[in-house]
Amino acid sequence: MGVYTVLLAAVILQARFTLAHGDAAESVSVSDFKADFISAQIVPDVLAAFNPSVAFYAGFASADGDEALLTPGMALTVAEAAAPIEFSVENISKGTNVTDTSRFIVYMIGPDVPSRATPTSRNVRHYLAGNFTVSSSNSTILATAAKLTNSSTATNEYSAPTPKSGTGVHRYVYLLYTQPKKFDTTDFASVGLNVSNRMNFNLSTFRTQAGLGPAIGGTYFTINIDGANTTSNTTGSTKPGAASMTKVSGALALMPLLGGLLLAFVL
Ligand SMILES: *[C@@H]1O[C@H](CO)[C@@H](O)[C@H](O)[C@H]1NC(C)=O
Ligand SMILES: *[C@@H]1O[C@H](CO)[C@@H](O)[C@H](O)[C@H]1NC(C)=O
Ligand SMILES: *[C@@H]1O[C@H](CO)[C@@H](O)[C@H](O)[C@H]1NC(C)=O
Ligand SMILES: *[C@@H]1O[C@H](CO)[C@@H](O)[C@H](O)[C@H]1NC(C)=O
Ligand SMILES: *[C@@H]1O[C@H](CO)[C@@H](O)[C@H](O)[C@H]1NC(C)=O
Ligand SMILES: *[C@@H]1O[C@H](CO)[C@@H](O)[C@H](O)[C@H]1NC(C)=O
Ligand SMILES: *[C@@H]1O[C@H](CO)[C@@H](O)[C@H](O)[C@H]1NC(C)=O
Ligand SMILES: *[C@@H]1O[C@H](CO)[C@@H](O)[C@H](O)[C@H]1NC(C)=O
Ligand SMILES: *[C@@H]1O[C@H](CO)[C@@H](O)[C@H](O)[C@H]1NC(C)=O
Repeated sequence: MGVYTVLLAAVILQARFTLAHGDAAESVSVSDFKADFISAQIVPDVLAAFNPSVAFYAGFASADGDEALLTPGMALTVAEAAAPIEFSVENISKGTNVTDTSRFIVYMIGPDVPSRATPTSRNVRHYLAGNFTVSSSNSTILATAAKLTNSSTATNEYSAPTPKSGTGVHRYVYLLYTQPKKFDTTDFASVGLNVSNRMNFNLSTFRTQAGLGPAIGGTYFTINIDGANTTSNTTGSTKPGAASMTKVSGALALMPLLGGLLLAFVL
């Protein structure tokens, strides 16, 4: 009886975080993104403030074989976090300073290095890329979201999280920025970023160097390296292999698996 009560509570708690999975990916409102950043204490641990004007999503390959939508706060396994398979946005025209010719910058950081309790090396830069543009084709994972496509190589290719056992829950944060025009023709090294140093990435220093405004969107996931090794299809109603959710071969071409390039980070 007690076990079922606990399981039911877990299902209810997890329902929000698994809504995008299986047969029904759903939009998340910008006000929910903002609230989730605050409840996860990304504000103020990582950002002084977060006022998204667009809904930003990453797609990932879930443990059950689906192409799934990352909604804020999802708990992923290490394998599920191996590589994003696409980025997408909703309501981009409402983004602050966004015009028809806007390009976008995306990065992902790990603030909890080596642990959230003792983050002495905050932040690790797992990914940094500019020159994203909004595609005319929509995501096959979330039909109302437009895919972001890139025209140049990433400054820092995606390096998958490899948290050490015994270090608890780690947060991984994606942020989306309107790209200042100069980066249409020049890279981040030109403004003083040491692109080969991914450790101790200081967001406020980088924003100043690059002339970035505040983030216009963002999302995050967690990995509990010491918790039950659950896959994201263990809760909620899922239909593994649902036709509408599984075919994103184009997206896979955009973000190839980068295992061979990954650096062995200590986090
Ligand atoms: C996008 O804008 C429409 C119209 O204002 C709104 O109804 C919808 O909730 C917005 N979507 C998101 C994800 O914020
Ligand atoms: C996840 O989905 C796969 C594929 O449908 C299934 O074989 C597996 O049992 C599921 N895992 C859990 C823990 O439910
Ligand atoms: C899950 O299991 C795999 C394989 O044993 C392991 O490598 C991984 O660290 C575990 N934990 C998570 C959160 O993925
Ligand atoms: C495609 O995405 C755009 C941008 O979010 C949205 O306005 C449009 O309604 C979507 N198209 C379909 C068919 O859902
Ligand atoms: C687009 O980004 C992905 C992931 O960072 C990268 O592997 C790919 O090479 C980029 N595309 C181009 C055209 O550079
Ligand atoms: C954007 O693309 C241009 C042209 O390929 C390149 O010169 C520039 O360095 C890129 N900017 C960034 C931030 O990657
Ligand atoms: C850039 O970072 C690398 C790796 O941490 C380091 O070896 C190098 O000295 C740094 N370069 C400068 C100019 O600080
Ligand atoms: C980032 O740099 C600013 C300015 O030098 C400094 O005040 C701040 O403490 C740094 N943040 C972190 C997390 O190191
Ligand atoms: C928008 O542009 C203004 C003026 O250049 C700038 O001060 C502000 O930081 C920008 N906001 C964003 C979100 O890019």
